[in-house]
Amino acid sequence: MKTIGVIGAGTMGSGIAQLFAQQGMNVVMQDINEALLERGRQGIEKSLQKLASKGKLPEEEVKASMDRLTCTLKTEDLAACDLVIEAAIEQMDIKKKILQGADAVCGENTILATNTSSLSITELAAATKRPDRFMGIHFFNPVGVMKLVELIEGIATSKETYEAAEAIVKAVGKTPVAVQEAPGFVVNRILIPMINEAVGILAEGVASKEAIDEAMKLGANHPIGPLALADLIGNDVCLAIMEVLYEEFADSKYRPHPLLRKMVRGNRLGRKTGEGFYQY
Ligand code: 3HC
Repeated sequence: MKTIGVIGAGTMGSGIAQLFAQQGMNVVMQDINEALLERGRQGIEKSLQKLASKGKLPEEEVKASMDRLTCTLKTEDLAACDLVIEAAIEQMDIKKKILQGADAVCGENTILATNTSSLSITELAAATKRPDRFMGIHFFNPVGVMKLVELIEGIATSKETYEAAEAIVKAVGKTPVAVQEAPGFVVNRILIPMINEAVGILAEGVASKEAIDEAMKLGANHPIGPLALADLIGNDVCLAIMEVLYEEFADSKYRPHPLLRKMVRGNRLGRKTGEGFYQY
């Protein structure tokens, strides 16, 4: 695979685009929002410069990586990609529409993938005309740091598609794990209910946000506490995942906490809006 398409220039999309460009591949990053696309491009450049300043990337690789990155507003520019990874907003209808657009312009051999956090791979695949060449390739935030990628097969994903995805993920230095489709896959099914529980503990006044985070850092050896992690992931994304778990399993243990909803309604989404459980 030589050219990778990434749909969406937000936190995950730009992180994925950077990863592939940094690893020597041509990347086409597409978004419909020009301001977001430019923000994503600038974020990638800043992040590459930071790596170079720390001596983790040769100085000349900043420009070389940026030269391999094409930013575009047009879906047609994804036509020549070998693999297209969709990393847009966590909404089924929007993702389906985006994937149908990519399906219409991409060559027959292009593999389509989604970075969805919890939505059904089978349902997304069925919206395209290539369900056999469709799967979930789920990265973790921050993409540059987190080693894991969940590889999720839909009901129709072919063996060849899975193997091609596994090879490319390994080629860019990540560790894949094979996951059968299930709501939240593996990591988010465990992680997001934990965050939801932390929000409940905060709402009940059991402990302060600092105490909750300190407790989980020192008591469970987590690198950051659950509320700081919610701010990193985005409270809107956490809520969207809880909604999927709640709906799909119809089990009250997955009920999103009202405080999580309130945070999202108040646009306190975390780092990306400058305020979540903490101020940024
Ligand atoms: N992009 C790139 N690099 C980053 C970064 C970012 N956004 N944030 C931090 N880093 C780098 C720093 O530059 C630093 O690099 P260095 O060692 O070369 O100096 C290194 O990571 C450590 O950073 P810090 O010292 O600033 O802070 P921490 O030690 O707290 O590390 C962290 C930051 C890596 C984010 C760490 O806190 C962590 O691992 N947190 C947990 C992250 C996690 O659980 N992610 C999964 C979320 S779930 C998900 O993504 C799924 C989705 O579907 C919701």
